[in-house]
Amino acid sequence: MAGTLDPRTGLPVVVMVGGGQLARMTHQAAIALGQSLRVLATDPGESAALVAADVRLGDHRDLEALRAAAAGATVVTFDHEHVPTDHLQTLEAEGVRVAPGSAALVHAQDKLVLRHALAETGEPQPAWAEVTTGTGIADFAGATGWPIVLKPPRGGYDGRGVFVVDELDEALALLAEHGRLLAEERVDMVRELAVQVARSPFGQVAVWPVVETVQRDGINTEVLAPAPGLDEETATAAQELAIRIATRLGVVGLLAVELFQTPDGVVVNELAMRPHNSGHWTIEGARTSQFEQHLRAVLDYPLGSTAMTAPVVVMANVLGGDAAEPDWSGPPLDERVHHLMAHWPDVKLHWYGKGQRRGRKLGHVTALGDDLAEVRARAVAAARYLADGVVDPAFAFPEEH
Ligand SMILES: Nc1ncnc2c1ncn2[C@@H]1O[C@H](COP(=O)(O)OP(=O)(O)O)[C@@H](O)[C@H]1O
Ligand SMILES: [Mg+2]
Repeated sequence: MAGTLDPRTGLPVVVMVGGGQLARMTHQAAIALGQSLRVLATDPGESAALVAADVRLGDHRDLEALRAAAAGATVVTFDHEHVPTDHLQTLEAEGVRVAPGSAALVHAQDKLVLRHALAETGEPQPAWAEVTTGTGIADFAGATGWPIVLKPPRGGYDGRGVFVVDELDEALALLAEHGRLLAEERVDMVRELAVQVARSPFGQVAVWPVVETVQRDGINTEVLAPAPGLDEETATAAQELAIRIATRLGVVGLLAVELFQTPDGVVVNELAMRPHNSGHWTIEGARTSQFEQHLRAVLDYPLGSTAMTAPVVVMANVLGGDAAEPDWSGPPLDERVHHLMAHWPDVKLHWYGKGQRRGRKLGHVTALGDDLAEVRARAVAAARYLADGVVDPAFAFPEEH
């Protein structure tokens, strides 16, 4: 790709804004490509700041910090959606290559912008309305029935910012706090799915199989690839939908389309334009991981094969559990890792280097195989053992010796 290259290596310098686990794992992929991610982190203890050689400390809402991090970079990309849109526009006007560009990214930053855009192109989505008044909310709920789902358009993640509301008073309180809300019907869904697609500036796209995402308290904690029992027609329609959205919005990099499956097909929940929790399985489960693919796409390299490496792949997140409590008296983390490896030599561990706290996303494990029930049980048991120190009876450990 044309653009600034590192004079020492002759290869690109990708800047990632945000120092979480997504940047950490993107850095890991960058290393194999001869590169080293430059990371803009807010704290030296963040997951990616702990491992990347070129870490700039600064706030992603501070234009000067963004400018300094972007200096001399080939391209600037993101591990989260929280950079103010006008800062991105300023950087673009100053000649910084930003991927995805601000005009695309705003659809992942602002849930109302997305709803309006999907409505314009007639893509399937839940019944929704932009509400700013009590009458607006009452009218919407009158049409769809209570409960309704209310979301501030910006800033939510991991279920923070999703309010299932049963009555008007509750809705009015949220309105008073936020001023403007996205109202959605509560979708009566069969399950949640996600499709990931990568798109390069050249216009090449590559899509992975549709996956099922399982959430706990609004947080995605398990991913089943491919989505079990999904008929081919729905799967193809979902992949085509993702490709259409990526192309119409001009996405550069990775796009994750979160979907709700209903008895009639799929509707779009929201978008992420970066590596995404629903794609962690691709590290071992696909020929090209989402992290490598994101780098390829933002650098306008040809995209890699998205073929799966096994018939069934399951990713299970480790959220801080009993073992993260200060008074935990079971085996310490290092010992749990040791046991995990001894007991499940085929399970792959990705630990994000964070301090342990209940509910925090600390890592994930991936299992591969042929049989969904067996692979899933293995992944979930391994994740649970790390989180809670609990050994699933189906995977009884040998007696201490
Ligand atoms: N309209 C809805 N109907 C039913 N469940 C919903 C709806 N919107 C969100 N949810 C549930 O809340 C989760 C988080 O919502 P989402 O809009 O994706 O927010 P976040 O930005 O926190 O990921 C979804 O994965 C889904 O489980
Ligand atoms: Mg979501």
